[in-house]
Amino acid sequence: MKKDKHLKLHPWKIIEEGFHPTKVTSSESLFSIGNGYMGQRANFEESFSGETFRGSYIAGVYYPDRTRVGWWKIGYPDFFAKVLNSPNWIGIDIQINNQDFDLNRCLKIEKFKRVLNLKEGFYLRSFEAVLKDKTRVFIESKRFLSMARKDIGMIKYKIKPLNKKCLIKLNSFIDGDVSNQDSNWNEQFWKHEEKETKGNFAALKSETLKTFYKVCTFMHNQFFLNDKILKETPKIKIKKNKISHTFSYSVDSNKTLSIVKCGGYVSSVRYSSINFNKTYKLSKEALDLGFDFLLNEQKNQWEKIWENSDVTINGDIKAQQAIRYNIFQLNQTYTGEDEKLNIGPKGFTGEKYGGGTYWDTEAFCFPFYLATKGSLAARNLLRYRYNHLDKAIENAKKLGFSNGAALYPMVTMNGEECHNEWEITFEEIHRNGAIAYAIFYYENFTNDKSYIPKYGLEVLIGISRFWEQRVSFSKEKNMYVILGVTGPNEYENNVNNNWYTNYIAKWCLNYSIIQVQNVREKYKTDFQRIKKKTGLSEIEINRWKEIYENIYLPYDSKNEVFLQQDGFLDKELRSVDEIPINERPINQNWSWDKILRSPYIKQADLLQGFYFFEDDFTLEELKRNFEFYEPLCVHESSLSASLHSILASKLDKKDKAYQFFLNASRLDLDDYNKEVMEGLHITSMGGAWMAISKGFGGMKIKNKVFSFNPKLPSKWTSLSFKVNFDGSILTVKINKKETTFELTGDKSINLICSGKKINVQPKKNIK
Ligand code: BGC
Repeated sequence: MKKDKHLKLHPWKIIEEGFHPTKVTSSESLFSIGNGYMGQRANFEESFSGETFRGSYIAGVYYPDRTRVGWWKIGYPDFFAKVLNSPNWIGIDIQINNQDFDLNRCLKIEKFKRVLNLKEGFYLRSFEAVLKDKTRVFIESKRFLSMARKDIGMIKYKIKPLNKKCLIKLNSFIDGDVSNQDSNWNEQFWKHEEKETKGNFAALKSETLKTFYKVCTFMHNQFFLNDKILKETPKIKIKKNKISHTFSYSVDSNKTLSIVKCGGYVSSVRYSSINFNKTYKLSKEALDLGFDFLLNEQKNQWEKIWENSDVTINGDIKAQQAIRYNIFQLNQTYTGEDEKLNIGPKGFTGEKYGGGTYWDTEAFCFPFYLATKGSLAARNLLRYRYNHLDKAIENAKKLGFSNGAALYPMVTMNGEECHNEWEITFEEIHRNGAIAYAIFYYENFTNDKSYIPKYGLEVLIGISRFWEQRVSFSKEKNMYVILGVTGPNEYENNVNNNWYTNYIAKWCLNYSIIQVQNVREKYKTDFQRIKKKTGLSEIEINRWKEIYENIYLPYDSKNEVFLQQDGFLDKELRSVDEIPINERPINQNWSWDKILRSPYIKQADLLQGFYFFEDDFTLEELKRNFEFYEPLCVHESSLSASLHSILASKLDKKDKAYQFFLNASRLDLDDYNKEVMEGLHITSMGGAWMAISKGFGGMKIKNKVFSFNPKLPSKWTSLSFKVNFDGSILTVKINKKETTFELTGDKSINLICSGKKINVQPKKNIK
């Protein structure tokens, strides 16, 4: 593995040293910041003529971009929802002695450094630059998106001439002329309506076309010489959709001119009405409190986040840095407060995947939010799907299903399907199972008994109705089969009896039957309501049972393994090691036809089932299936490595588990796939956290009892992680000799550690 030397190892920071013009777009992704409601790539404030990918996004603000496909198939969605690149509010252009400042055009750039401070939640960039006329300046910019005040971000931008007095012109602006890189038809996404400027404040009111989200982008500037505020008012320039405040000052050598800029968005996602006045007040209040005050507030917010979620690893700084980076980025993407929002595979760090919601949320992120933010955050994620149930029913109806059968979309923003490749849109139906599984996981993990009778059962009924109609009866096998599907392994399409899909369908039917009984017995009023609403009948419950008991699960008795799908053994089963290195990744080197005919697996497919349903199989079965399928897996989805790490830990394959963990957690930092410039792999970061807790920690929850079976990688001297259980934080501390627990709150808990029952009492001295 080639190491990126320009990134330094540090337990709490991501540090880049030296200016690398070819890595600007990659670093823009890596140093991205967000607060769950908005996020932005780490673009320079000043204009840059080199390669850059500018991006700033508002959670939930999307545009339905008309579908573009070569061959239209009935059932395709009309649009692909895209989170929108939003007006740029960070812009600060600089002129020094009448020369435009551009990092791409300087004579020299020295001491260039970027730091993402994970502990305190801010991003810093500093350097010394020598301009064409030999002027040397020091520039530093500190920026954060406030976790305490979700609409605002703050920048403190300093310029210090180092060898001569300079005339410095600062041009701070907001600019509505932005577009998505991935737009299908180059349509306009925004309509800009009104502009306002008042003193050092300026704002631009815009509306998204078609979806009609209203957004007020604003900036409020303050200027300082050293630490003294400058009272001069800026010159205002309004050009089309851009408002600039320009301010010139003659600055002596070694004096610092700085601008404190408060900016951001007030949007109709968060407010029923938006107006300039509200925006003005909000930003004025922030400036009155001052940059340092707000930064301190930010640190406190992050301290609280870390108190509930930190993972410590001793003996391996690479792993330590990586897992904190993953936790940091997950928190920047979704804070768990809002049931309208979710977690896109790239968060706010890029445009691939459109910012929509995938099964990634339930399968890879849900356990993280549940364990580090508590049941409310997890309930919000479940409610997101509950709120989309009607759309999932509509979606299934479009494909020919009836009677309230629900097919959740492969990718969505508002509940409607956005995906438009038939082999995935129509066939990658296992996603429905992950949504039901999250309900089961939540029910098992928390003491919240009300979710299923209030909401969850309706979702389970919709999903089970879908499976009921999606299976067919094979006379030849005398069993139920599921034809024409794509499993998690997208390198096989339109296969019959994908084991994972059949297994999860079977599990869903059984779990729904159990929950119908549970609600019927214990929540009579809810049951009556649901029965009336859904028309649930005994006949269909009996049919679910009949299918559950008779669904076909392909098995090969010679190798004693389950079969990924019908006919899998007809393939020439050669291990991934036989693929020449220069042909990897195969998805960038092989024709699609070659990939489809090959035995190679994109990501955990059958093994995904062994992860979800671990108690259904013996260790022996896991070993046989892992050793059969893992050598065929090319891990070309970011979601693959973490799952394999967990299973390898379970099998005591310590080195493999460790290597897979590094691949999962450092995927972006080490840019294994040479694509980090497109954005970070946010959802796979949830998988990295699972590799820690479920893999190395061996955490399991069965019948509401936690158990741990620690498997520390040999390099690590200790590991600790936290789990929020019913409002109390359980800290699990593992070292080479023992595992100990600390508990907050006032209730003790019973758990099992390496097979032994123990009772953990809350510690008095921890809150
Ligand atoms: C994976 C899917 C995943 C999607 C978004 C694809 O490459 O195969 O499983 O849902 O990326 O992360």
